[in-house]
Amino acid sequence: MLKVRNLSTGYDGVPVIFDVSFEVREGEMVSIVGSNGAGKTTILKTISGLLKPFSGEIEFLDKRIDRMPAHEIVKLGIAHVPEGRHVFGKMTVRDNLLLGAYTLESDTDIKKVLEEVYEIFPRLKERENQKAETLSGGEQQMLAIARGLMSRPKLLLVDEMSLGLMPILVDKVLDILKEISRRGMTILLVEQKVQEALEMADRGYVLQTGRIVAEGTGKELLESDLVKKAYMGM
Ligand SMILES: Nc1ncnc2c1ncn2[C@@H]1O[C@H](COP(=O)(O)OP(=O)(O)OP(=O)(O)O)[C@@H](O)[C@H]1O
Ligand SMILES: [Mg+2]
Repeated sequence: MLKVRNLSTGYDGVPVIFDVSFEVREGEMVSIVGSNGAGKTTILKTISGLLKPFSGEIEFLDKRIDRMPAHEIVKLGIAHVPEGRHVFGKMTVRDNLLLGAYTLESDTDIKKVLEEVYEIFPRLKERENQKAETLSGGEQQMLAIARGLMSRPKLLLVDEMSLGLMPILVDKVLDILKEISRRGMTILLVEQKVQEALEMADRGYVLQTGRIVAEGTGKELLESDLVKKAYMGM
């Protein structure tokens, strides 16, 4: 579904991603794991068109997207749940969700997708008229993911959804992501929480200072010396 080939990119001419290649197949959950500053967010921003590559190619459903503007990439079916959630605090939960549906044209579609999303996130339905700023951290993360789903994406990009959450909430949010995956969504997740992200992924990639240094199934990576030594203190 998504093919990234020999991607190099960065900021103000300074590269931070070097010759990165990976793919995501339809229906998969793929995790890219790495420490602070490895370049995970930069990769997602480049896929969703917020940042342009210095070189390399990105293909989505057999179409080159690396020169497309971000709003066209959303229309093709890629939704990006950004790092740090970015919900609109003064707006209600429902209005935050409706913002995510701006690419849908008919009101019936919007109603339908809202119902689907509420089915996955009953908590959000209970709180639909509450201002988003009054939600807990975990609920705000759920709102950010739910808003991503409102555009009916084919591919969901999720950036560091565990950030700043207590362990118990991390598990909850991860469970929800598994449920979304089970319903057929293709997901690319980037995470610093290496163990959790690899345990739930079909396949994964390890990113170190802008380069992919290992790839494999989640299980293979978890059992690899590299991951054990570098991320699990073993
Ligand atoms: N807007 C920017 N301008 C200049 N440099 C940036 C910018 N954003 C990120 N960088 C640099 O690019 C590198 C990769 O950053 P990135 O945010 O992609 O890392 P990350 O893997 O997402 O880290 P974290 O786990 O902390 O979120 C870092 O060295 C960072 O300082
Ligand atoms: Mg990041």
